[in-house]
Amino acid sequence: MLYSEKVMDHFKNPRNVGEIKDADGIGEVGNAKCGDIMRMYIKVKNGIITDVKFMTFGCGSAIATSSMATELIKGKPIEQALEITNQAVVEALDGLPAYKLHCSVLAEEAIKAAIKDYYEKHHIPFDEKKYCAGDCACLHEHEAAHKPAKAKAEAKPAKAKAEAKSTKAKTKTATKTTTSSKKSTTNKNSKKSAKK
Ligand code: FES
Repeated sequence: MLYSEKVMDHFKNPRNVGEIKDADGIGEVGNAKCGDIMRMYIKVKNGIITDVKFMTFGCGSAIATSSMATELIKGKPIEQALEITNQAVVEALDGLPAYKLHCSVLAEEAIKAAIKDYYEKHHIPFDEKKYCAGDCACLHEHEAAHKPAKAKAEAKPAKAKAEAKSTKAKTKTATKTTTSSKKSTTNKNSKKSAKK
């Protein structure tokens, strides 16, 4: 099956769906490539994420990764939530197809955006550079940088195949050129002998 049982379960029965009216932090991120949007709400007490909810307008994988991300951060200290990467979300879901990994990046960035909003609203100093601006440009850079080895390995044979194809095509063209130039020489020679 393309999707694991866990992905299907979180897609069909997403956990923590909804809004928190008096949220301490709200993070919204979007992927301009596919148009999907994820919004995450957090409640924080004494540095612990006591409640989290999400609303996702997007694909099944985006819903499953948002749902799993909320499960991973609920009840955790902010510092631990900040350490959750998209790979951790993917692993917790027993994997995602390589072309759906960007959906998990959205989940990681939504967590970070909500925490950033919490810091800003509560005037807590933080390192701006560590946080996504919430637009897609950095999401794709992030995606490339965080591609698991498996996805990279899958990309390699494809590249090798393409290179082999182009070499084959080049050889074919070269053979064609040689054959046609041979043909034209033969034609010229036969014309010459006919004249004689
Ligand atoms: Fe856009 Fe999944 S296709 S987040």
